Amino acid sequence: MEIRYATPTDLDSLLDLLQANHANNVPDDEKKNGFVTTNITKEQLCDLIDKENGVTVAVDGGRVVGFALAGSWDYWKPWPLFSYMIDILESYELDGQTMTTENSYQYGPICVDKAYRGTGVFEKVFTFSLESMADRFPYMVTFINQINPRSYAAHTRKGGMTESGKFDWNGNHYWMMAIRTK
Ligand SMILES: CC(C)(COP(=O)(O)OP(=O)(O)OC[C@H]1O[C@@H](n2cnc3c(N)ncnc32)[C@H](O)[C@@H]1OP(=O)(O)O)[C@@H](O)C(=O)NCCC(=O)NCCS
Repeated sequence: MEIRYATPTDLDSLLDLLQANHANNVPDDEKKNGFVTTNITKEQLCDLIDKENGVTVAVDGGRVVGFALAGSWDYWKPWPLFSYMIDILESYELDGQTMTTENSYQYGPICVDKAYRGTGVFEKVFTFSLESMADRFPYMVTFINQINPRSYAAHTRKGGMTESGKFDWNGNHYWMMAIRTK
């Protein structure tokens, strides 16, 4: 198992893992074990690699079994949810510090193949991704759907993240999460 920055040759395998865990493909009774909602194309992922080196992968036997995305708000702003998060970002704080598009970046989605869950892959991918952005930003921000308790448990108990508040968007209820990068 290797944890490293992704290269373009990892992206087909990464997208297979994303699709398998996308809300559209996860049955309702399995959503408590996690799902992702972000849609992203291979071209957008290539861009994230080129411009921000923002794709971390866990690779086993040549297959991507875990990944995390991370990028500046400027990268994410074309997505409607992230544009909304940018609008409300300054209402949230961590340790008394207001979150802004300059002092924070957006991480996620993160995804771990079912067969590798609970094995420490989450912590390794999360930590690699967080450290990879630490020289650029003092804070990382993400959102978690309130019907994804597994992700909330992983990020608070294993990732050390804190809930900065909640927000609603497009009929969904989210936690706004934050952490210092160092
Ligand atoms: C979210 C995800 C990355 C977490 O990785 P993971 O390997 O499953 O995480 P872990 O199993 O190490 O930790 C999850 C914790 O949640 C707990 N948990 C499991 N199911 C749970 C549930 N239904 N409700 C609450 N907690 C739950 C586990 O017991 C574990 O805690 P513990 O080890 O202290 O007992 C992974 O489940 C995943 O990829 N899910 C699909 C995609 C996804 O949801 N991505 C996140 C989008 S925000």
